[in-house]
Amino acid sequence: MHATLSQEHQEHKLDAGFWRATVVLAVISALGMWGVVVFPIEKYLPEASGISVDIDWLFKFMAFFSVPILVFVNGYIVYFTIRYRNRPGRSLDQPGSSIHDYMPLELWWTAVPTVLMLVLGILSYRLIPQYYYAQAATTNSVTVEAIGHQYGWEFRYPGLRDPVPDELHLVTGVPVTVDITSIDVIHSFWVPAFRMKQDMVPGMVIPITMTPTQIGKFEIVCTEFCGVGHSGMRDRYVYVQSRSDFDAWYAAEKKKQAAAPTEITAAVLATGDAAAGQGLFSQKCAVCHNAAPFDQRKVGPGLGNLFHDPAHPKLVNGMPAIPLDVAKLIEHGFQGPMGVMPSGQMNGLSNKDIADLVAYLHTLHVQ
Ligand code: CUA
Repeated sequence: MHATLSQEHQEHKLDAGFWRATVVLAVISALGMWGVVVFPIEKYLPEASGISVDIDWLFKFMAFFSVPILVFVNGYIVYFTIRYRNRPGRSLDQPGSSIHDYMPLELWWTAVPTVLMLVLGILSYRLIPQYYYAQAATTNSVTVEAIGHQYGWEFRYPGLRDPVPDELHLVTGVPVTVDITSIDVIHSFWVPAFRMKQDMVPGMVIPITMTPTQIGKFEIVCTEFCGVGHSGMRDRYVYVQSRSDFDAWYAAEKKKQAAAPTEITAAVLATGDAAAGQGLFSQKCAVCHNAAPFDQRKVGPGLGNLFHDPAHPKLVNGMPAIPLDVAKLIEHGFQGPMGVMPSGQMNGLSNKDIADLVAYLHTLHVQ
C-alpha cells in the first residue's frame, strides 16, 4: 500500500521531461516577444495622429506580456496531455492520483497577472484623456461635426452652409475636436490610422480630440452593426492636407454650395435621363430600396411601382406619387415611422441626379 503511494508520488515529480518542455516553451516565448518588439506596425497601418504612437506602444506592451502567457499556458496543456495520457492496459475507471494545491505556484500565478493588469490599467487610463477633451481648447484648434446615418457620414465645417457627405478634410498638425453624433441608430466612427474609435449615439454629442500628423488619405470605417448597409460604410476617407491644400478645398466647396440651386424645379426635372438614373439608383439607393413591389423592403419600401401602385397612391410623406413630389422627397429626405432617408445633399445628389433618378423610377413597372 505504502509502496504504491510513493510510486504515484514519483510519477508526478517534475522530471527532466518537464524541464526540457519548459526550456522549449521559454525559447518560443523569447522569440515571440522579440517579434513583438521589432514588428513595424506603422509599416502596415500608418501612425497618422499624435496619439497613434502611444496607442501602438500600449498595444506592444500588452502583446509582449501576452506572448509568454499564451505560450506557457497552452504549451503545458499540450505537454501534460501527452506526458500523462492514459496508457494501454490501464482501465478507464481506475482512479487518478489526488493532486493538492501548491502554495508558491498559486501565489505567483495570482500575483503576476494582478500586477500586469494593474500596470495595464494605469497606462490605459493615462492615455484616455488625450482622446477626450484634451487639446479641445487650444487657440488654433478647429471643431467639426461628424454625423452618422444609415449608411454614410456627414461632416459639418464652421462657415460652410451645407454638410459635406463622406469626406472629412483636416489640416496636418492642427488639433481638431470632432463632435460625434448620429441621426438614426448607433454607428461607430473608426479611423484605424488615427487609432481612434467612438460610438455615434443618437441624441448624444461626444467630442473627441486628436492631431493628425501625416498628410494622406485614411479610411473611415463603421464598426457598429447598424443595419443591412453596415458593411457599405467604408471606403470613405479622411483627407489630411497641408494648410494651403485645405484652404483651396474649403474655398471650392464653399463656392460649389453657393452655386447649388436650393429647390428642384419642373424645368430641371424635365432633363432627367433614366439610364443615368439607373446607375445612380444602384450606387445610392439600392442599399435601402429594392426595384421591386412595395412590400419587398430592405430598409425602405420597394420602389418598383412607385408611380403605378393603386394600393399605395401616396408617398410616405403623404404627398401624391407624382414626379415633382418624388423629387422633393429625395431632395429633402424623410424621417418617420417607416425609417430615415437622408437628404439628397447628404447622399451627394445634385438636382440633375435627382431628376435622373425620378426619370428612372418612372420607367419601373414591376409585378
Ligand atoms: Cu453604420 Cu455600421
